[in-house]
Amino acid sequence: MYIKYFIVSFIAIILFLGCGSTVNRDVEGIITDEDQFTSEENIDKNRAELYTQGEVIFKDKCEGCHGSYGEKKALGKSVIANMQEHELIEAMRGYKSGTRNNYNMGALMKGQVGNLSDEELTSLGVYIYDLNKERLTLAGKGHKLYVLKYEESCGMSSNDFASQKSQSEWTKTDDTGTFIDELQEICPNVTFKKLYEKYLYAFVYRYASDSGNIVSE
Ligand code: HEC
Repeated sequence: MYIKYFIVSFIAIILFLGCGSTVNRDVEGIITDEDQFTSEENIDKNRAELYTQGEVIFKDKCEGCHGSYGEKKALGKSVIANMQEHELIEAMRGYKSGTRNNYNMGALMKGQVGNLSDEELTSLGVYIYDLNKERLTLAGKGHKLYVLKYEESCGMSSNDFASQKSQSEWTKTDDTGTFIDELQEICPNVTFKKLYEKYLYAFVYRYASDSGNIVSE
């Protein structure tokens, strides 16, 4: 009787541990210790709230120099779009405390972040990092759509397609609402769907002629 009970619980425990470790293995390499940077005791907002808070501050105080995704070289110096979340937060803390000065413009950045709280700096790190992850996903989808739907009829490799314009030229087509028309001119033989616009835009922007990125097919 007892033996049966033990065997059943033993099997249950093994199954439980087994499942647990599979999950851990799945997320290994995706969620790193550094991604957990925000779960600090002094911050009680959740990630979505931090993202929203960061978005407001970024658009107000940072976008002008760093571009809407952090992709611009701020005052010719620094691109922040590809930085990890913990690197962003550490950099901002460094400017705030006056210890960071990579391009001799540390004082200028201290002026930007000096009066922000640690929670606000964290929210900026969350926003800039997540935003770029989202853009990367969109760009990846845009690339796949191009290859599947348009590449053959257009007769242009995805790299050539995206580098028809520079980042600022693509941005201009987006601002003026002429993005799809421009694509239509580049590939007159195909009809681009409005539905795919945001994916295709993220794709060509990421691999624009002056982006320094090259599509790996
Ligand atoms: C007036 C233009 C300007 C504004 C506004 C500005 N930055 Fe910067 N940012 C710079 C410059 C220039 C640097 C390089 C500073 C140095 O010498 O280390 C920099 C560096 C950085 C870095 C470190 C990049 C690296 O290469 O390590 C981060 C992160 C950053 N800024 C985030 C922000 C955030 C967040 C905001 C808004 C709160 C902001 N910046 C506002 C110009 C600006």
